[in-house]
Amino acid sequence: MPEKIIIFDTTLRDGEQSPGASLNVAEKVEIARQLARLKVDVIEAGFPVSSPAQFEAVKRIAGEADAIITALARAKEADIKAVYEALREAPRKRIHTFSSTSDYHILGKFGHPRYGQTLSEKRQTVIKMSIDAVQYAKSFCEDVEFSAEDAGRTDIGYLAEVIEAAIEAGATTVNIPDTTGYTLPDEFAEKIRELRRRVKNIDQAVISVHCHNDLGLAVANSLAAIQAGARQVECTINGIGERAGNASLEEIVMAINVRKDLLPYYTDINTHEIYNASRMVSTLTGFVVQPNKAIVGKNAFAHESGIHQDGVLKNRNTYEIMKPEDVGVNESKIILGRHSGRHGLKARLEEMGYHLTEEKLDRSYKLFLQLADKKKEIYDEDLRLIMGDEILSEKPACSLKYLHVFLGTNAIPTATVRLLKNGDDVQESATGDGPVDAVFNAIDRALSTDYTVQDYQVRSVTSGRKALGEVYVRIRNGQAEAHGRGVSTDIIEASGKAYLQAINSLMRKKQDNAERE
Ligand code: KIV
Ligand code: ZN
Repeated sequence: MPEKIIIFDTTLRDGEQSPGASLNVAEKVEIARQLARLKVDVIEAGFPVSSPAQFEAVKRIAGEADAIITALARAKEADIKAVYEALREAPRKRIHTFSSTSDYHILGKFGHPRYGQTLSEKRQTVIKMSIDAVQYAKSFCEDVEFSAEDAGRTDIGYLAEVIEAAIEAGATTVNIPDTTGYTLPDEFAEKIRELRRRVKNIDQAVISVHCHNDLGLAVANSLAAIQAGARQVECTINGIGERAGNASLEEIVMAINVRKDLLPYYTDINTHEIYNASRMVSTLTGFVVQPNKAIVGKNAFAHESGIHQDGVLKNRNTYEIMKPEDVGVNESKIILGRHSGRHGLKARLEEMGYHLTEEKLDRSYKLFLQLADKKKEIYDEDLRLIMGDEILSEKPACSLKYLHVFLGTNAIPTATVRLLKNGDDVQESATGDGPVDAVFNAIDRALSTDYTVQDYQVRSVTSGRKALGEVYVRIRNGQAEAHGRGVSTDIIEASGKAYLQAINSLMRKKQDNAERE
């Protein structure tokens, strides 16, 4: 009989730790709803102690989704308490706590003599902290997961000791992260087998793995670990996460699905929701999915060469190992136009995974009509952008009310903007090297800001001359970074909107940090 693999999604925690990603509370809730439709078993919703906004997001998700909801805590009472408080409303909850176990981490993080004089004393301190953390978490919640951070580079004898102690203290899941994405598949699988041999109470907990992708091996390592006895995998949509990211959910799930002959396992994932989840996460985080990305990339099911096209037309099995519709990829359909009603819009949005309140639906319908005036045919991608750009964003501190740009072959590009800033109108003009630069300068002047633009990308979302243009901007101020997206049939306007969204997000982050201190 095939055995079940538990899918633990950490898009909203590790995924959101990707440099440049930041999701507001409404966006996180929307993604959590999509994860629930995807039928992931566990949703890791955030790291509540790290900021009031993180706490709020976990709390909102806990009251919504019907998967097991978990959140992360260091091995500290304050962190664990914060997770418990944030998860109060969740019908099914899990506290996830972790300690660092590799010598690199122990020496780096616990260098102070109060943790012990020698490495061996420090290692014992980490075991004690782990036991205390699991027991404390257990006093709130039956379901407790313990992670041994940097297990991939942890000495196997010591790792076995830590894991045994965590299970003894009450951990029901023990997670073995390859935090730095360092291991190779055979080596990682052997680590799991060795733990199963050495840890005498290992049968009392589920073995989980959490692989990072620094060497591009996160999915391979996760699959090798499953074959060696792991029964939970931690992963993210589109593989987003710290540095090179985490194992990608869609790749693990589809590998298990397609290679049933060699992988006698199953997941409860509704694979038809994979593409919707991928697009939603990409739109809301601003991380464009590379065209050749397995399963969800634009080219994943495209056949370019004549030989391939001919083969697929004769028999799809020649070059396709799975069907696009298995993962919810449809041709972008012309779904709606100017004469479509509110009801039609609502139905299509629901099919795409967006369940809106009446108020948000009203706003969406207005935006839809405005867009339909400029653009006859509205595609799914257009609707996703309306969702990401306007509907799920929080009410911004600054918004664009008016924009005028003057440019010509021998003219100096000049932009005038009128912004609504905390309820007041501010207007400014500025010149620039080009129209976009002029708009950014005018906004900076109006807000008395001066940010460094780290990244600027424009892409056309749908085809044709009336396609919507999406602009992505990443800005930096000191150590703080934020991104913004803007969408319009006019890319200069989209650029202004994206820049303002990034500024709003950076201001929110600074406020969050100030509240944390
Ligand atoms: O990569 C890692 O080790 C983690 C743990 C906190 C689970 O994200
Ligand atoms: Zn991680």
